[in-house]
Amino acid sequence: MKKIDKQLNNVIPGGAHTYSRGYDQFSYNAPGILKKGKGCYVYDNQNKKYLDYGMGLRAVILGYANKKVNNSAIKQINNGNNLTRPSNIELELANKIKKNFSYIDMVKFAKNSSNAVTGATKLARAYNNRKIILRCLDHPFFSFDDWFIGSTSLERGIPKEIRNLTKTFKFNDIESFKSLLKKYKNQISCVVLEASSFCCPDIKGIKIQNPVQAFKYGNPNKKSSYNYIPKQDYRKPHFLREVQQLCKKNNIVFIIDETITGFRWHFKGACYRYKISPDLVIFGKAIANGFSLAVLAGKKKIMSLGSIDTLNKERVFLLSSTHGAEMSSLGAASKTLDLLQNGKEIKKIWSHGVKIINGINKISKNNGLIDNIFLFGLPCSPYIATNIKNKNSPKLKTLLQEELIKHKILMPWISISSSHGNREAKYVLNAFRKILPKIKKLIKKDINKIKFKNIVKPVFRKFN
Ligand SMILES: Cc1ncc(COP(=O)(O)O)c(C=O)c1O
Repeated sequence: MKKIDKQLNNVIPGGAHTYSRGYDQFSYNAPGILKKGKGCYVYDNQNKKYLDYGMGLRAVILGYANKKVNNSAIKQINNGNNLTRPSNIELELANKIKKNFSYIDMVKFAKNSSNAVTGATKLARAYNNRKIILRCLDHPFFSFDDWFIGSTSLERGIPKEIRNLTKTFKFNDIESFKSLLKKYKNQISCVVLEASSFCCPDIKGIKIQNPVQAFKYGNPNKKSSYNYIPKQDYRKPHFLREVQQLCKKNNIVFIIDETITGFRWHFKGACYRYKISPDLVIFGKAIANGFSLAVLAGKKKIMSLGSIDTLNKERVFLLSSTHGAEMSSLGAASKTLDLLQNGKEIKKIWSHGVKIINGINKISKNNGLIDNIFLFGLPCSPYIATNIKNKNSPKLKTLLQEELIKHKILMPWISISSSHGNREAKYVLNAFRKILPKIKKLIKKDINKIKFKNIVKPVFRKFN
């Protein structure tokens, strides 16, 4: 462990305030601590500049330290930041969000999406008086709370009774969903999933060279069932809409978590792309360009259970926190939404994604590495595979990270902001042109013979 990692881990369990930021997620040569960020670059304490694809765990959609967003936040700081009654910006932003989404009647602010998703499950349980939560297994994270973490391998500290109340189904596999409906008939309170997954549907006008291997992450034969195309044929099977219909039929609350998909998929969220209307929706991360804000929103009949103006109804104690509506974050969100509204910034993200997916996959193919290193998924949020014999290889992931960091690229995953332009795409492709022949040689010898100082590990593992 490096000195800085020791210092961090000595005083902070996990060494950071998100496990994804921990030293076990990065190669040894990664900067251990960062000083600042500007645009799509971050700087370490020695002022070394890195092209960043982490983007504050996907929270920074317009680039770090965006002047307009910062000024909007500063205006609210100067207004007091946290007042004794609701603030003007609170009402203004709630209305702005409501106006943008046809299925949103009411809005509740929080600091973390984890709390907002948990709030949604609580509302659901209160609404239909049932206990079981179905959550999608292919989506890596919904909340730090027990109902979710208890359904992962990290169950320590969570009573079995709670763990037993969350069941999992697979994305784009309607049968796995239907079998749970049958098994837990009239017991399922809500379904929690994202509106997208690793797979890349056909999108008119966008040509992506997705390698064949990428289909491993989504059955190619079922490709049409999560497509979105402008003129969707509503007679065709469509996983998300089928889930929505089944929820309606069975009085199950349909919850879509747009923490990642909002707003890179579309200004109106991924739900708009896929033409679905959840009962409850969660936004977070990018909504305030890195300022801390999460949103739980949705239909009045469910959201209003948390109200105080309905007479003689038993109340639900919904999200209620001192800092939930901190004005600086709300100011930042309001400006971020204004800047995203015309779609230009989001278009830049898609365009950068297309360039790096096609470019990196071509370079990988030319080097005979397309089975090992390739990008897949949607251009607005591509994933990077580091496989050996069709299986994710932590050693290959570490090796690629090490080499990218030597080229001053921090790419633990790929989160694109609208600050990532042509220059950055060219820079990344150039780095891959230099790196991949070297990796090819090392893999050919035997990757197991390489002595790594630190191998990147999965966040969800039972033991250290
Ligand atoms: C889809 C999704 N939902 C919820 C969360 C939790 O968000 P937060 O870290 O704001 O609690 C995350 C975090 O990565 C996420 O990716």
